[in-house]
Amino acid sequence: MGFLSILSFAHAIVGERVRSGDVVVDATMGNGHDTLFLAGLVGDGGHVYAFDVQPAALAATQARLAAAGVPAARYTLLLRDHAELADALPTDARGAVAAAMFNLGYLPGADHAVTTQPATTLRALDAALATLRVGGALCAVVYPGHPGGAEEAAAVEAWAAALEPERWQAVTYRFLNPRNPPPYVVAVEKRK
Ligand SMILES: C[S@@+](CC[C@H](N)C(=O)[O-])C[C@H]1O[C@@H](n2cnc3c(N)ncnc32)[C@H](O)[C@@H]1O
Repeated sequence: MGFLSILSFAHAIVGERVRSGDVVVDATMGNGHDTLFLAGLVGDGGHVYAFDVQPAALAATQARLAAAGVPAARYTLLLRDHAELADALPTDARGAVAAAMFNLGYLPGADHAVTTQPATTLRALDAALATLRVGGALCAVVYPGHPGGAEEAAAVEAWAAALEPERWQAVTYRFLNPRNPPPYVVAVEKRK
């Protein structure tokens, strides 16, 4: 049967914590797979705030959500750097977010030079943690296999490892013996 794939594990962590009516964040919407997943979890009473810096990502995500019949009231697609997350979310979302998903790297099928960067990623991770409710989780999939990806993955891991253990629980989930550096999960739950 094998272990859960990296993306299935990320979805399991988030799926266990998000209920109908919740507010959630997709910090890297890309082609919208995670935005659609989150929109299904939160239902009509909930809301997904999704970020990307590329218009092509917003177009692809909008098309995916529309094709799946997701009502427009359930999501906000922001053409904005996720480092601006704190300013972009409504004030009542602060401390109320059930889950924040990050899927780092570049947009598949687009310019591979447009990729997440450690400095803005770390700012966005900090901002996302500040929005979480108790019991909520941040889940990042990191990609050490592309140029710059190993440095970014190491920075995210070091960031999570340095979080105060009384307030945050941080884990990784990764395959140890693939031939090439594989993506892996860094996740954090807010304990109190
Ligand atoms: C691996 S893709 C995300 C895949 C997506 N989760 C999906 O389901 O299709 C990473 C995305 O992050 C976006 N990105 C890069 N830098 C960003 C930033 N500073 N803020 C927000 N998004 C960014 C890229 O444009 C790209 O679309």
